[in-house]
Amino acid sequence: MPQPLLEAQEVTVRFGGLTAVDAVSATFMPGELVGIIGPNGAGKTTFFNAISGVTQPTSGRLAVLGQQLAGQGPHRFARNGLARTFQTPRTFADMSVRDNIAFGLKFAGKRPRKYVFWGEETGVPWVLRTADSILGLIGLNAQADVPAAAITPSQQRLLEIGMALATRPRMLLLDEVAAGLTENEVEEMARLIRRLRDELDLTVVWIEHAVTTLLRHVERVIVLHQGKKIADGTPREVVRNPEVIEAYLGDEMNDETSKTEGAEA
Ligand SMILES: Nc1ncnc2c1ncn2[C@@H]1O[C@H](COP(=O)(O)OP(=O)(O)OP(=O)(O)O)[C@@H](O)[C@H]1O
Ligand SMILES: [Mg+2]
Repeated sequence: MPQPLLEAQEVTVRFGGLTAVDAVSATFMPGELVGIIGPNGAGKTTFFNAISGVTQPTSGRLAVLGQQLAGQGPHRFARNGLARTFQTPRTFADMSVRDNIAFGLKFAGKRPRKYVFWGEETGVPWVLRTADSILGLIGLNAQADVPAAAITPSQQRLLEIGMALATRPRMLLLDEVAAGLTENEVEEMARLIRRLRDELDLTVVWIEHAVTTLLRHVERVIVLHQGKKIADGTPREVVRNPEVIEAYLGDEMNDETSKTEGAEA
């Protein structure tokens, strides 16, 4: 059995009297594409913050490739191959799209890797070696010289994914990268996410409210509700789970169905 890429054990995050993440355990294996769903305020982002070192868990253990990292800062997590996007994109508005990616590449250079001694980037997929090849991968070549502030919101989301990829991660955490996109754009985003996993051998964890699209593309889905993990299984299993339907899916799927019906009417 291969070693888990990331293992969270009983991770809890409290803000004063509020338990935002309540003893959540989850294991992510290399190459998995896992979705995280749940109502607003369920603790999805806080869980991401905990497993990427942005927020210190109140208690619990976090191992990245067997190494205990709970309590360490985000840079330690990044050095161990974790990259993430933020629910509100964090790009450098005045810098060009290409320079935003170049910033990520510079950061990646700080991660010690054996290829440093060989004077070449052996072991890094060719597509992640230069800013321009990353721009090609995310489809932003035409915007390379434009300031990040001037691109569309959906392009901003792609740029943030590109910046995360530039750190040459093993694991990519995506927080609502399809929020606010049109239905076609959501589908394109889902395809890109799958390609990243398939072609770059990444482990991808993807939070999204566009449940029907997400469930079509992931192999496993974790459901959070009021800070607790209430389900963890294949999309087929999870959509039949009465607790999940009650807490979330009933409303969410009806919303999406009525949206589609509305669009067709
Ligand atoms: N820094 C913070 N200080 C205090 N409370 C917080 C903080 N961050 C999040 N919370 C609270 O923790 C709970 C979980 O929030 P979180 O943002 O993780 O939910 P979420 O599942 O990502 O929701 P959404 O789908 O709306 O993004 C919420 O009640 C939120 O108000
Ligand atoms: Mg969130």
